[in-house]
Formats: sequence, C-alpha cells, structure tokens
Amino acid sequence: MSRLRLGVNIDHVATVRQARGGRFPDPVRAAKLAAEAGADGITAHLREDRRHISDDDIERLSREIALPLNLEMAATHEMLAVALKHRPHAACIVPEKREERTTEGGIDAAGQHNRLAPFVRALSEAGIRVSLFVEADRRQLDAAKALGAPVVELHTGAYCESTGAERDRHLRAIQECAAYGDSLALEIHAGHGLGFETVKPIAAIPPILELNIGHFLVGEAIFVGLEASIREMRRLMDEARPSRLRPGE
Ligand code: PXP
Repeated sequence: MSRLRLGVNIDHVATVRQARGGRFPDPVRAAKLAAEAGADGITAHLREDRRHISDDDIERLSREIALPLNLEMAATHEMLAVALKHRPHAACIVPEKREERTTEGGIDAAGQHNRLAPFVRALSEAGIRVSLFVEADRRQLDAAKALGAPVVELHTGAYCESTGAERDRHLRAIQECAAYGDSLALEIHAGHGLGFETVKPIAAIPPILELNIGHFLVGEAIFVGLEASIREMRRLMDEARPSRLRPGE
C-alpha cells in the first residue's frame, strides 16, 4: 500500500492576511513551514474574486517552494492563463460561484463535458496533472475518465458536516466510489472539511493516494501552531493507514 500524501492548503492563512490587507501572515511562509512539518504538497486556490490567495502568492509559491504545487482553479480562460504561466505540478478544477463561502459541491463533469474538455486538454498538454473535484458519484467518475483527467478528488464536505447514520452513508459512498475510480485506473484523492475527528476513516480507504486539507489545519494552528497541527494530522493519517514500505523502499 503506498504512503498517503498530505497536501496542505494554505488559503486561509491568506484569508487572515486579507482581513487587514498588507503582508501578514504570509501564506508562503506557511507553505515553507508545512514542508518542514511533513506536507507532501502545497495546495492553493486562486479564486476569481481573489478573496484569499493572490496572483503574487502563486508567483512566489511557484518560485520559492520546493514541494509540488497543486493549483485549485475554476475552468475559466483567466485561470487557464495563470496555470499555463506558472506550470504547477497539478491543477484541480473546481466549480466556483462568487456568492459561496467555500467550494460547496463538486464539478458537474458529466453535464459539462464539452465545456471542460478544452481545459483538461490544454492543462494536460502543458504537462500539468489534472484532477477534477467531484462528488462521490459513479457518473462523475465515468465523466472524468471520458474527459481524460488522470485524477479525481472526491468531495468529503458532506461526510464531514453530517453525523451518525448520514455520515456513515456518505462514507460508504466515498469508499465505493474510490474503489470504482481505482478500477477505472483513475488516481483518487479526497478533501474538503477534513479535521482530526473525520480524517481517519477517509485515510483508511486504500485507493486514496492524497488528502488535501486546509481550513481545519489553519484553525487548529491558532491554538497549537501550524507545525504541530500538521504533524498531528500526519500522525492520524499514518495511524489509519500504516505504510508497509520500509524507509528506502
Ligand atoms: N480540496 C479542494 C478541491 C478544495 O476546493 C478545498 C478547499 O479549498 C480543499 C480540498 C480543502 O478543504 P478544507 O480547507 O476544508 O480543508
């Protein structure tokens, strides 16, 4: 079983900065600290309204961070131009509405094939690994496959927000879809809303190779510091899915 990767999303360090304008706290400094704390990648969402991450942040993250950068982006020509300029390791296509507080649902890859196809193609041709942020729904995985996206990220928001039997139902859907996506030879990632209390059942799903986590880590950092917050998440992920590989293998 391969080691589960942790992508640390640093958007909400920028949210705190934007509350006052100016330069502090600096999300690039957070990304450097995340690397020291064991992150395998850095994730940042450049939103159309630039409410947190700025163009300059993307520029600096591309230049100053050694870890792979995963750029979350809406399928727009403006964002495609940013991606082609900076050529991040990966781009995750997400739906985006100005009025939403966060990315509230997955992208409708099934209903928007023709609109998404040129973006998936252009990013792939530039050597950027494309992922589509989708709900745990087989139709969306079939659509991602048809679009030629090598990766899907399963939306864990509804699982995290629910409780009891409803949470179990969402978890089963994610488990089932992860296995289905794996059978289609899609690489499976997951994220949104994950915290210490919700991460382990998701980390335990074998086909999932990467989790992208941000808001909780930055919130917890207020109390324990960013490094401790990330290290604890890493520990819980490893506990849920111990790697069978020995160092060096
Ligand atoms: N994955 C995707 C595709 C996202 O859009 C987000 C939020 O930007 C995350 C993961 C991280 O979610 P959270 O900040 O709730 O951990």
